[in-house]
Amino acid sequence: MSILPKNEPHKPINTPQNFFIYGATMSGKSYLAERFPNPLFINTDGNSLAQTAPSIQIRNVKSPDGKSLSKNVIDQLDAIVTALQNENHSYETVVVDVIDDVCVMIEQAICIEQGVPTLADIGYGKGFSMFNSVLQQLVTDLKALPINVVYISRANKVGEGIQEHEVPSLRTKYYNIVNGNADLVIYTQKIGRKYIRRVTDRRKAYVRDQIKNEKILNVLDNVSGVFEKSTHVTPKEQEEIIKQVEGDKQL
Ligand SMILES: Nc1ncnc2c1ncn2[C@@H]1O[C@H](COP(=O)(O)OP(=O)(O)OP(=O)(O)O)[C@@H](O)[C@H]1O
Ligand SMILES: [Mg+2]
Repeated sequence: MSILPKNEPHKPINTPQNFFIYGATMSGKSYLAERFPNPLFINTDGNSLAQTAPSIQIRNVKSPDGKSLSKNVIDQLDAIVTALQNENHSYETVVVDVIDDVCVMIEQAICIEQGVPTLADIGYGKGFSMFNSVLQQLVTDLKALPINVVYISRANKVGEGIQEHEVPSLRTKYYNIVNGNADLVIYTQKIGRKYIRRVTDRRKAYVRDQIKNEKILNVLDNVSGVFEKSTHVTPKEQEEIIKQVEGDKQL
């Protein structure tokens, strides 16, 4: 068979599959992620007891001498990805809650294994490139799965006075690796007693009618700014537009 694809238009992907949710503590990030279809949480902060979705707690565990790790997050993540790729399961979403911690733990695992205090202590930038390749691999592997991927990040306040606003607390260079693959970035806020979710970045203007997955639609309908305003005009609206145009002509 030829390596060249058949010369015919291919169907565009109209349903977002990779999500990035950020917001302050208690703003409803995990709550929103739990609304995605059949989620599996990869948890870092021990908050998973508060939710009902199945979860795997990941952590580095030091060996008794403190010089190496008896449990390593890089191996755990690898095992989870392999299981999701190869086992029969009914998960439709994987949630990384929170990606900030996953990055710190990967960094920690590399440093302990290499016997250095920081990545910078591994010569010639090798520590950083080791880190980048682990994170890049994780993101690429998760993206290749036929399920939704949701990354959760905490938020930091930046700016002062009326300029003050929240941004993802994930460091910019890690954010770029993770977000290069996100279709929608969702910001969560708790204002008074209300939970607000809105899109702050999106790969494209999604069209509601083109999203066939009911469960995803259910989630997206509760987030503002996902969809472009519909260009569909009802017959009644059409009549009103015609009347208006005719009226303008007579003036
Ligand atoms: N839309 C919502 N409607 C009702 N309750 C909500 C909603 N969103 C969140 N909550 C409630 O608010 C609380 C905090 O939500 P959640 O745990 O999702 O926050 P979080 O942003 O993940 O916080 P953390 O950063 O601490 O993990 C929970 O008790 C949750 O049930
Ligand atoms: Mg949470």
